[in-house]
Amino acid sequence: MRYALISDIHANLPALQAVYRHIAAQSGVGAIYHLGDLVGYGPWPNEVVGLIASAGIAGVAGNYDSTVGTDYKHCGCRYEDPRQEELSHLSYAWTREHVSPGTKSFLAALPFRIDLLPNGGHQAGPRVLLVHGAPTLNTVYWTEDRRDDFCLKMAHNTGMKSGDVIAFGHTHKPWRREVEGVHFVNTGSVGRPKDGDWRAGYVLLEVSDGRVGVEFVRVEYDLEEAMRAIRESTLPDDFAEYLRTGGALDSAPAK
Ligand SMILES: [Fe+2]
Repeated sequence: MRYALISDIHANLPALQAVYRHIAAQSGVGAIYHLGDLVGYGPWPNEVVGLIASAGIAGVAGNYDSTVGTDYKHCGCRYEDPRQEELSHLSYAWTREHVSPGTKSFLAALPFRIDLLPNGGHQAGPRVLLVHGAPTLNTVYWTEDRRDDFCLKMAHNTGMKSGDVIAFGHTHKPWRREVEGVHFVNTGSVGRPKDGDWRAGYVLLEVSDGRVGVEFVRVEYDLEEAMRAIRESTLPDDFAEYLRTGGALDSAPAK
């Protein structure tokens, strides 16, 4: 079974459209799933949710989705300096102000996790678990420098065994690792990458008996359109520059 996993779209419609077109051109993709953070930082929260809903793309709640959906006091984002904190608050306030009631209900209804059994539920494995941050909370940053024992703890807590996969996003930096046969895949970000590459990122995951294939894909999109729309909105212009640099100017490790 071949899946396309898309995460952290962050209201960047041109990036989502480009990724969606790219996936449609791939052969053998059985399903697309999103791993949350549909909104926040970008100017198209309703349009992104509209496309996800109309395309029938199932997915999980990112911290941004669940906080907007439940009127939580802040977005659950990490910030490491006062300017970043200010920008984070501005983005959250803007997003809450601009989501339609339908978008808000959609975000609030997203499940926390999705379990897939590519060979069918009549067999024990292999399993694929989809979450936004980590199986404990969607605000946990599962960065590449996490130790193997952290990964194994997450696997053991969720009953994942050798040959199984846990896929997640949230840090906006793609990476993968295999520990004791369990595969850990961070899908990176469609609409707000932080690895210094501005292009939209997603993952093609292939799972069959005894084999897990992970392909990290990058797709060019209309960056100028996204930057223009941010500048023409009341969102901070900083977010346009952030997209252009792929987060390279960000001194903080993750958000
Ligand atoms: Fe995110």
